[in-house]
Amino acid sequence: MNLQGTRITWLGHATVLVQTAKGTNILIDPFIAGNPSYPKAFALPEKIHFILLTHGHGDHVSDTVPIAAKHHSTVVAIYELSAWVAGKGAAETIGMNLGGTVQLDDVAATMVEAKHSSAVQDETGMHYAGVAAGFVLTIAQGPVLYHAGDTAVFGDMSLIRDLYHPQVAMLPIGGHYTMGPTEAALAVRLIEPKVVLPLHFGTFPPLTGRPAHLAALVDPAVQVVDWKPGDSI
Ligand code: NI
Ligand code: MN
Repeated sequence: MNLQGTRITWLGHATVLVQTAKGTNILIDPFIAGNPSYPKAFALPEKIHFILLTHGHGDHVSDTVPIAAKHHSTVVAIYELSAWVAGKGAAETIGMNLGGTVQLDDVAATMVEAKHSSAVQDETGMHYAGVAAGFVLTIAQGPVLYHAGDTAVFGDMSLIRDLYHPQVAMLPIGGHYTMGPTEAALAVRLIEPKVVLPLHFGTFPPLTGRPAHLAALVDPAVQVVDWKPGDSI
């Protein structure tokens, strides 16, 4: 499909870089130093304008503060998690909550539900970080993207379809901590995207779901991209 100049790059696990035609760079769920599937040769763009966090687990937030410091990024997360990253040294944060939308230059970012847990861990233990979420990114003169975060399938994915009509759905498919291909196939029927970008598989041995498993279960008119970390569409 035509993404109208928007570029989406998978950096392994749930880490995704979205670059709009206008030049806004958004990094979702930065998991880099400890991510065994991060493409080591990949160089992030000079500037990351915004970092979006779906929830507080280490495999989604662990590189947030260093990247925000280096790139002077604004971190966008659910209120409690945004307060935690601010306390850890992120200078610019936007706390929001489910159902809300914030305008990030040419991208309207809407926080939507996910079915998952959320807490954030540091040397003193585990701390409340609000609830897990996903994001719908409505890009001006561009496509509508949905990053589901970590989630099980849930019936209200049909509300995300009815409200925002995402053409591109980034969905976890690994299983164990999130839905696997069987559940993700139902998610695809609820969301009705044109393109599915599978995430959260292959990083660790329990994450056994693969794009081919999902592709075999969905309408052949839906494109399930079989990509590798470092690949872009
Ligand atoms: Ni998680
Ligand atoms: Mn995860």
